[in-house]
Amino acid sequence: MKYVAVLGYGTVGSGVVYVIDHNNSIVSANSGDEMQVKYILDLRDFPGDPNESKVVHDVDVIMNDPEVSIVCETMGGVGAAYKFTKAALEKGKSVCTSNKELVAKHGAELMKIARDNGCSYLFEASVGGGIPVIRTLTTALTAERITQIAGILNGTTNFILSKMEKESAGFDETLKTAQELGYAEQDPTADIEGHDTARKISILADIMSGHFVDSDKVDTTGITAVSADDMANALSSGYTIKLLGIATRGDDDSISTMVAPFLVRKDHPLAGVSDVFNAIFVTGNMLDETMYYGKGAGKLATASAVVADVIDAARKGSSCMYKGWDETPVRESSSSVKFRYMVRCKKGSAEDIASSCGAEALDGNASFITGKMSGSEFDALCEKYGDAVLSGIRIYE
Ligand code: HSE
Repeated sequence: MKYVAVLGYGTVGSGVVYVIDHNNSIVSANSGDEMQVKYILDLRDFPGDPNESKVVHDVDVIMNDPEVSIVCETMGGVGAAYKFTKAALEKGKSVCTSNKELVAKHGAELMKIARDNGCSYLFEASVGGGIPVIRTLTTALTAERITQIAGILNGTTNFILSKMEKESAGFDETLKTAQELGYAEQDPTADIEGHDTARKISILADIMSGHFVDSDKVDTTGITAVSADDMANALSSGYTIKLLGIATRGDDDSISTMVAPFLVRKDHPLAGVSDVFNAIFVTGNMLDETMYYGKGAGKLATASAVVADVIDAARKGSSCMYKGWDETPVRESSSSVKFRYMVRCKKGSAEDIASSCGAEALDGNASFITGKMSGSEFDALCEKYGDAVLSGIRIYE
């Protein structure tokens, strides 16, 4: 018998318990042993819940029980979750998590502790929910020099942008609808300001580079400034708008990371990724382009990825550990990656501003497309023309 403890009985934690219970014959067969949840750690009680008797409030009950060999950390945050993860790994218990914040911040250290203690720290569910992208990068694409990873990594913002596209609606009203439907949190800051995507792209960039990519240093812009006019302008020119996390490898092997709204050509596979779905577009030097698509959030999709890690840990102990990355900071690109911008201008000013950039205003609307420029070159353009420049959105190509 393999015993599992689940830390945090919220959305993902209760999903983990459900998957292990509901798919028990599959989970146990694939683990090579019968799998059972022995404890659930939470501050709350759950009277009437079928798993009420498994709830404990003292983490030491779990840490001191030698029968528990695998711990699922589904608490979130970097406080108690970090402390408990470290303690479990030091006791030789493998930890499987969906906690992207913790992986982004302390992943390298926690993987080292796991290695030193003959167990694993696994985090498939931390990026792309149920999409097996971490396993793909660490086991299937290992013969590749990955040159770029571009992902729609946040379900909330993709839902909002898809709705703005379909209903010609503005950002504020769409956010409100998303909150009413339960797709956006009451405090949506981490999603709409791009911080959640920054954490996820930094984890993918960690794997891509083998070194630590600080999510706080990812050049991050959210979607709060994307207007109904920006979307209409994009659509009329054959694009849609997506919030992308992009990690690009330079010729000198440095890595640059960015999160921003991008215009994506309507015939690009990423443009068809709608609603709360996620997709990760990976370019390798031999394989060329591949895309991984699925539910990037949600109780059962995310829990399924956590339980797949549990099964791996049960079967292989420490030998399923990802190669991962070390704590050395990645070499960042000295110059930022340049993109073309679609610039929207006040009526009557597009031609002048466009010609100053060596471009031509597009027919029928007050906008134009620049040549490739860096973020600071675009900022200089905005400064020069003041409020005549209404918006500028990079083009992903
Ligand atoms: N808030 C996240 C999202 C949850 O909307 O994608 C999954 O990480």
